[in-house]
Amino acid sequence: MSETRRKIMRVLDGETLSPPPIWLMRQAGRYLPEYRQTRQKAGSFLDLCYSPDHAVEVTLQPIRRYGFDAAILFSDILVIPDAMKRNVRFTEGHGPEMDPIDEAGIANLNDEEIVSYLKPVLETVSRLRAELPSETTLLGFCGAPWTVATYMIAGKGTPDQAPARLFAYKHPKAFERLLMLLADVSADYLVAQIDAGADAVQIFDSWAGVLGEREFAAYAVKPVARMIASIRAQRPRAKIIAFAKGAGYLLKDYRRKTGADAIGLDWSVPLEFARDLQKDGAVQGNLDPMRVVAGGRALEEGIDEILEKLGNGPLIFNLGHGITPQADPENVRLLVERVRGSRG
Ligand code: CP3
Repeated sequence: MSETRRKIMRVLDGETLSPPPIWLMRQAGRYLPEYRQTRQKAGSFLDLCYSPDHAVEVTLQPIRRYGFDAAILFSDILVIPDAMKRNVRFTEGHGPEMDPIDEAGIANLNDEEIVSYLKPVLETVSRLRAELPSETTLLGFCGAPWTVATYMIAGKGTPDQAPARLFAYKHPKAFERLLMLLADVSADYLVAQIDAGADAVQIFDSWAGVLGEREFAAYAVKPVARMIASIRAQRPRAKIIAFAKGAGYLLKDYRRKTGADAIGLDWSVPLEFARDLQKDGAVQGNLDPMRVVAGGRALEEGIDEILEKLGNGPLIFNLGHGITPQADPENVRLLVERVRGSRG
């Protein structure tokens, strides 16, 4: 029975597998020529996210090429503000943009029918589960409330999320309301992904690293804990990976405080500390994506060190953040082969 369970699900239950299973954040993306081709056919980036035909195709591309142990639903964390009618757009060379929200906007925010607006994404999930090889884990995802809120407040990406940090100090009540609304709709959205066929889900808190200690507790831990409690109240067996990028030492009791099964680690997390975190359950990470761009010894040494330090505990091999467009697809092949060639 346990032999036939999907590897990533076994690691999420705390098993140590040698070699560890592997997938990469942003594994479907611009570094792949076949992605660029489908992306062009689809039109805008959001059209790609909302077209089940195209979204299924790009999700499967890295699975066909590399046989990763997980496929991650192709979508974006900003479909939630799009469903909230914040006029989200992705323009070439600008990154994401939307209408910036203020106190009045938060008071009037649309949090109705979010899941029904996102039906095309849920259709992508169910088609994927039907088309994927049975051994491949299907991951759903969404953004954490803090990270999604940073884009909603600024209306765009910023280098250090100063607009959202400032807004939170000046308007704590409105900000708290925004985070709690996002937590509730995001939890229901993840439940819908699980019901559509996702085996596990990942919550991306990509901007956790700009928060001070007190703010991390209030804006990163509390809303994610609320989401996970809501998901588990609805689907007790749900498996959840939480990735709080840049959180460093604050990850110490992040698992216990949020209830996540696995903790995603960026490449700045020291491997000794990662090993401590592994005593309480699975960790995922944490190769610097620039090592994949560099290739050669930099790639090999980075892989070997992670396998040596973390390979004797529950590990899902991954990068410490998304793969970048300039990565050579051949280096990704070498990465997968080297991880799989390992013996514990
Ligand atoms: O393969 C996968 O990992 C699944 C797809 C996925 C995308 N975005 C596709 C995408 C996932 C899981 C995300 C998450 C996401 N989106 C995050 C959290 C993870 C992270 O990277 O920190 C964030 C912060 C976003 C918001 C976002 N989407 C930004 C800031 C950008 C522009 C930057 C960029 O890389 O261009 C996007 C666009 C985006 N999302 C692209 C892809 C493949 C590139 C757009 C394109 O193809 O034109």
